[in-house]
Amino acid sequence: MRIAMIGTGYVGLVSGVCFSDFGHDVICVDKDPTKIARLQSGEVPIFEPGLEDLMARNVAAGRLTFTTDLKAAVDGAGAVFIAVGTPTRRGDGHADLTYVMAAAEEIGAALTDYAVVVTKSTVPVGTNRKVAEAVGRQAKVEFDVASNPEFLREGAAIDDFMRPDRVVVGVESEPARKVMADIYKPLFLREFPVVYTGLETAEMIKYAANAFLATKITFINEIAALCERVGADVKAVSKGMGLDGRIGAKFLHAGPGYGGSCFPKDTKALARIGQEVGVPMQITETVIKVNEEIKRRMIDKIFEALDGAPAGKTVAVLGVTFKPNTDDMRDAPSLTIVPALVGAGAKVRVTDPEGQREGEALLPGVKWVENAYQAGQGADLVVLLTEWNEFRALDLGKLARKMNAARMVDLRNVYDRDEVLAAGFVGFEGVGR
Ligand code: UDX
Repeated sequence: MRIAMIGTGYVGLVSGVCFSDFGHDVICVDKDPTKIARLQSGEVPIFEPGLEDLMARNVAAGRLTFTTDLKAAVDGAGAVFIAVGTPTRRGDGHADLTYVMAAAEEIGAALTDYAVVVTKSTVPVGTNRKVAEAVGRQAKVEFDVASNPEFLREGAAIDDFMRPDRVVVGVESEPARKVMADIYKPLFLREFPVVYTGLETAEMIKYAANAFLATKITFINEIAALCERVGADVKAVSKGMGLDGRIGAKFLHAGPGYGGSCFPKDTKALARIGQEVGVPMQITETVIKVNEEIKRRMIDKIFEALDGAPAGKTVAVLGVTFKPNTDDMRDAPSLTIVPALVGAGAKVRVTDPEGQREGEALLPGVKWVENAYQAGQGADLVVLLTEWNEFRALDLGKLARKMNAARMVDLRNVYDRDEVLAAGFVGFEGVGR
């Protein structure tokens, strides 16, 4: 099958590369000529483990190409995926559909034969019908639309794509369903579950899933705050809760609040949809609020570890990306926490295996260093903010010896108090313990 993938952002690029690996002929399209030129020369613009190799392999096999020419890419394609951005619109919290709608019109004008126009971008309920209208305004041939939301986790995207918990396909005609089944045949043959639904339901599944996961994280974060007050250990609470099969152990790690490109944006969009149709999403609205409070609470915790006097102290921050194995800084807790420290007059030294490129502009007033030990040199506090592997097995004794006052705030509960103190630290704070 020939597939056109419109948009080479995170979802578009990963999906395009993976579809080509299924044996399909994939043409990835982007308006940005610099980006396309980089992709054509084999450069991957995002950090995602395994993506570069997989891309190279499929380019070499002649199944994967990149272009700025949408018209040529759509010509003869059996399916055209829309994977352009849907950022939160300034002012009203709505998902901004400008790019999706513009792509739909352009695709409509470019269609030369029956094709299925598939939305992969996360879009509010009802958008696929609008996409159908937009394509239809321009199209001179038959077409169908489908909704195929993406559940990839950054840092594990290839694996998530190749071994999904499920594939959700919103289709409303037999030919469209057949095209989608052909595209995902390699997965369906291996019996990964597929959920066929109508358009609105598919759109809803994505928002409901992400809001639920954000709620689960926020719930345990709130429990963590309570644990601190009553002398309980949230790590053990998570374990004890998670062993109940109805709850499940995943997404119960207390931390500095969720971030990233999906949870903050999708929870806001869901809340907005609810307000619009007069069914307020009260739980989701609270989750959004509590997540902000959690981040503020982390700042209090760090200030307390500095005896309430951060001015002039040196703080080493380990990790600034919103989670490990990505260079993504979108809505990362570091964007709230680090400026608070800088604003309070602390000298902040930052290290992150991939975060510097994006982070430099976003975190003014900090000093970037190579590793945790350089960050810790003469510092009064080390804050573990993102649990990259290289911060999980620190030589704590070495780190403590380099510091001025060896204190640690571990916002990801990687370390246990006893081991940190035994290594020569004089102070330790985790989350919810
Ligand atoms: C998420 C969803 O998992 C994915 O299905 C969806 O399609 C896109 O959004 P992603 O944003 O890449 O993926 O990261 P994820 O691993 O889900 O983590 C999201 C945030 O929650 C991160 O800030 C992470 O640190 C935080 N988190 C996650 C916790 O604080 N505790 C947890 O137990 C799990």
